[in-house]
Amino acid sequence: MTQTTTLFQRLGGTAGVTAIASDVVDAHLVNPLIKQRFLESDPAALKDLVRDFVSAGTGGQAQYGGRDMRAAHLGLNINERELVAAIDDILGVLDRHGVDSGSRAEMLAILYSFQDEELFL
Ligand code: HEM
Repeated sequence: MTQTTTLFQRLGGTAGVTAIASDVVDAHLVNPLIKQRFLESDPAALKDLVRDFVSAGTGGQAQYGGRDMRAAHLGLNINERELVAAIDDILGVLDRHGVDSGSRAEMLAILYSFQDEELFL
């Protein structure tokens, strides 16, 4: 079947992506496996960056003004357990927002592709 909507639209457009980005950052901040990584972060600023990153990467209109993935995570020595924890947060948020399973799988594939590009591990 031909996919006629962008992933951005299936995430709920601007309103959906904004809410998802906010909830993802909130989930990271309470996730015992990764919350210590964000002690120095300004949550509101990070939410805006994540919103624009997701929008720009899924077919939305936002201009992402943050660092690229490699620069943002350089030197953090993120391990696989942390990456899985972050992805679990994201998939949980997508589920709670009613994003369909095909779109969640698409998001998962994109997130894993960052790992393949050796952006984290
Ligand atoms: C799952 C894939 C991930 C994506 C798509 C992602 C995306 C982003 C984005 C868009 C930023 C903002 C860039 C900037 O500050 O200019 C960022 C920053 C950051 N990310 Fe990730 N990230 C991912 C995984 C992780 C993981 C696994 C960790 C560690 C547990 C992590 C830790 C951080 C930290 C510490 C920052 C800087 C926060 C700050 O400066 O306030 N990220 N990430």
